Amino acid sequence: EASFDQSKPLQGFSALVTSGPTHEPIDPVRYIANRSSGRQGHAIAEALAAAGAQTLLVSGPVTLPDPPGVEVVHVESAQEMLEACMAALPVDIAVCAAAVADWRVAGLSEQKLKKEAGRLPELTLAENPDILATLSKAEGNRPRLLIGFAAETEQVASHAAAKRQRKGCDWILANDVGPDSGTFGGSDNQITLIDEQGAEAWPKLDKQAVARRLVERIAEQLAGSAR
Ligand code: CTP
Ligand code: CA
Repeated sequence: EASFDQSKPLQGFSALVTSGPTHEPIDPVRYIANRSSGRQGHAIAEALAAAGAQTLLVSGPVTLPDPPGVEVVHVESAQEMLEACMAALPVDIAVCAAAVADWRVAGLSEQKLKKEAGRLPELTLAENPDILATLSKAEGNRPRLLIGFAAETEQVASHAAAKRQRKGCDWILANDVGPDSGTFGGSDNQITLIDEQGAEAWPKLDKQAVARRLVERIAEQLAGSAR
């Protein structure tokens, strides 16, 4: 009879988390990036590991320490983040919390661009790979439970539900960042979890509490399934 440790409901499961921004180089000294502290993704990785999951965190450039109990791969660009994620498959659980830059600079300069009076550099952009959508299409290797995030300012549930369909993930955690959410600039998140059944509104919670609640929800979902 196998024993079950209630404090470690994800023992025997593997998890992959993306977190932080990505940096897309313009030249050796400049980059474009999204704004992201990585705090939510790192908290989720830490909570998954605390629940017993063997957890790999693929992190863009952040100032946070590596969370305890988690294996961390540090990357810079979206392309590097994608490669690290694909190399981590197969996994049971994947949570894409990174704020991936949607574009990179095409034909980036090997030398520092020099400022010249009266001349502006022209940057041509190329679309970055969509890591969440790519994981959802990983043939024979799709994470069993694939979770994305969506920061929305209006029509949160419907925009996030459309994003869930488009990306082919199982759940979307929609974060209401609109001006009336009361979360703007604060430390709390207002999450609506979108799954195939519909929308589940969570109370306002800080990022650690969001991580714990998500991990509880994941454990319920995977409970009893083969490890
Ligand atoms: N994501 C990703 N790779 C990308 C872009 C987004 O993995 N190149 C993931 C994010 O980590 C997040 C989800 O996709 O889990 C939604 O990201 P978001 O930027 O809201 O979606 P986009 O499709 O890029 O749409 P938008 O035009 O709103 O930026
Ligand atoms: Ca985006």
